[in-house]
Amino acid sequence: MADGANRNDLRDLIARRIEASGPIGFDEYVAHALYTPGLGFYSGGGGAGRRRDFLTSPEVGPLFGAVVAKAFDGWWIRAGRPDRFVVVEAGAGPGTLARCVLAAAPQCKDALEMILVEPAETQWSTHPVDVTSRRDLPGPAELGGATVVVLANELLDNLPFGLVEFTETGWCEVRVGWADGLVEVLEPLDDGRSAWCRAKAGGSVDIGARMPVLADAASWLGDALSLASSATGGRVVVIDYSSTSPQLGRRPWTEWVRTYSGHGRSGHPLAEPGTCDITVEVAVDQLMSVAEPVSNQTQADFLRAHGIDDLVEEGAAKWREQGIGGGLEAIAGRSRVHEAEALLDPTGLGAFRVLEWEPGPRSARSDL
Ligand SMILES: C[S@@+](CC[C@H](N)C(=O)[O-])C[C@H]1O[C@@H](n2cnc3c(N)ncnc32)[C@H](O)[C@@H]1O
Repeated sequence: MADGANRNDLRDLIARRIEASGPIGFDEYVAHALYTPGLGFYSGGGGAGRRRDFLTSPEVGPLFGAVVAKAFDGWWIRAGRPDRFVVVEAGAGPGTLARCVLAAAPQCKDALEMILVEPAETQWSTHPVDVTSRRDLPGPAELGGATVVVLANELLDNLPFGLVEFTETGWCEVRVGWADGLVEVLEPLDDGRSAWCRAKAGGSVDIGARMPVLADAASWLGDALSLASSATGGRVVVIDYSSTSPQLGRRPWTEWVRTYSGHGRSGHPLAEPGTCDITVEVAVDQLMSVAEPVSNQTQADFLRAHGIDDLVEEGAAKWREQGIGGGLEAIAGRSRVHEAEALLDPTGLGAFRVLEWEPGPRSARSDL
């Protein structure tokens, strides 16, 4: 994450950009704040992990990866046990999920080829050795017709997003300008974009209501779907905290655009670019207008469907039978109980949504 000097460098860089061509979109601001090489929050080394800024499901402990390994087996079997089974994990961060999946030795391990996509190379040093790391999604031609699953845990909430606000004169875009500091600037939207806002809001909203515009997430999904559609059995799986545009339009925006650093909440997203994560609850309806998912369930339901209860029981039994004499394996077994509580918590990680697409020959569309 950016230190004091870098923080000013990043603010200056954004100020110069605004000076040169006027206020920038909120999405462009988020892209600078998170991903400017060396200065952004992620590119400067911030991110998921106990020693970093926030905990994600893979960072709770190895149980999440062990369940995901079972899910891999289910998808591989469903795809007809192909010889080559490529899982592209997008937004892999420090690679903890991949490490735990591989440690769980899934049945598909001889066919499994993992590719971690992570643009912030500061995260790569901790990636497992038997995976490929790269900065962006491969193209379908690069994977030579293999069965491809694209998996993203807590990626979409971190892709740059725009903001719109309903004002007395209609829908406006929230842009970022400069007036002795970074400030919000409202710019009226044209008729087409206003109509999009009205449709997404799904009814009347109060003056001051805001909604996110997830154009980057929609475009990422389109790319992921075409990658997964190159062979039968392909799949795109997105796990994230989510809501819908109409619901977000009826809640204060400061509740669903959140900033984090050092395991706590940070201040206004414009306050100190580069020092904190900026995330948005994912409006799933905006993803569904790209393509209809085949499944949309809570993380708790997804983990139960893929055998979390058996894994917890297996771990607890190991602890009961062997106790401390069972060493690290028995201790890990006992800790599964606590990990499961966090992963299934209906007021926390358990309420995340897991959306799955099984892309067929039909092409993706987007209204963004
Ligand atoms: C909240 S972290 C999630 C890390 C990990 N998946 C986890 O659950 O612990 C989001 C990650 O997505 C990465 N990221 C941002 N834009 C990306 C993109 N276009 N493609 C892939 N990863 C991206 C960020 O650098 C960051 O490491």
